Amino acid sequence: MSGILARYELLLPLNKRTPRLDLGEGGTPLLPLSKTGETLGIELFGKFEGMNPTGSFKDRGMVLAVSKALEEGARSVICASTGNTSASAAAYSARAGVPCYVLLPAGKVALGKLAQAVIHGAKVIAIKGDFDRALELAREIASEKKMAIVNSVNRYRLWGQRSGAWEVCDELGGFPDAVVLPVGNAGNITAWWAGFVQYARLKKGTKVPSMFGVQAAGAAPLALDSPCSYPETVATAIRIGKPVNGKRARWAVRMSGGRFIAVSDEEILKAQKLLASREGVFAEPASCAGIAGLFKLAAEGSLHPGLRVVAVLTGSGLKDPNVVLERIGHPVEVEANREALMEVMEA
Ligand code: F0G
Repeated sequence: MSGILARYELLLPLNKRTPRLDLGEGGTPLLPLSKTGETLGIELFGKFEGMNPTGSFKDRGMVLAVSKALEEGARSVICASTGNTSASAAAYSARAGVPCYVLLPAGKVALGKLAQAVIHGAKVIAIKGDFDRALELAREIASEKKMAIVNSVNRYRLWGQRSGAWEVCDELGGFPDAVVLPVGNAGNITAWWAGFVQYARLKKGTKVPSMFGVQAAGAAPLALDSPCSYPETVATAIRIGKPVNGKRARWAVRMSGGRFIAVSDEEILKAQKLLASREGVFAEPASCAGIAGLFKLAAEGSLHPGLRVVAVLTGSGLKDPNVVLERIGHPVEVEANREALMEVMEA
């Protein structure tokens, strides 16, 4: 076994009756982002969660949520999703052999994520509304029909996601000074903070890192501290107006000495291009919001030089090819001869 249930057995709520699902989740690379770090004047690492089995951090929580659902006798699984949760829920449900129902905001889910949910055999339903409405419906149906809901309202989801923080500490041999994460439903930032707190109890004398949560400006109820009824952003993964874990995330951020930040779509796409073209790391737009947030902090003079910072790069860039091709364009086509080729190469 190679996944997080085996690796962190003693830190997770497992017992003899818990089935040990495993798709090899976790163990993602912690990559030095030296060029970007140098520009920002900090020691910067990217925890590349796009290397999880379904291409996002959701697998860390999903493996535990679906295992616990099986232990508790659930016959089916349901979730609402901006895409990644559905891909992960569909994969782990397929592995476990239970039916999975997925509610998505119609027309607002990246192509790769949609394909994943469909191929894993989930019943995929597009709701004519946004994610927030889809989640309300999923919660209603789950409690009526006694289905296991595997959104971040499920405490096991967030518990499993703590493992990202544990891996960072194990690999660095200590705690980073700060962590930046993109924020949508605000579950992951809460989970990472809880993970650091749990670890700090084991290793006395350590300080939990400052947590910085970054939202897209068009969907930033926490960063702007005002309700958002019509969330809109190119980073569809975090296109969320009513984060269900908002209260807990506010607490976590405040306790850690961090804050929430809003960044524009333009800043997010610029950060995505920078990571891909200068660091060789292709992460989906939402994942790059954290890096955009760091540039914002640096511009304000709020990023202390020399800090050791981890940016959580939450999902793979392969999930959302359209956002790249629409912006950067398709390759030039030439006749299949040397002259035509050289003309384009030398232009
Ligand atoms: N980054 C990516 C790539 C995501 O897919 C999500 C959330 C987040 C960041 C934000 O995490 O919600 O815990 O604050 N995606 C959810 C989904 C909502 O349905 O896939 P959060």
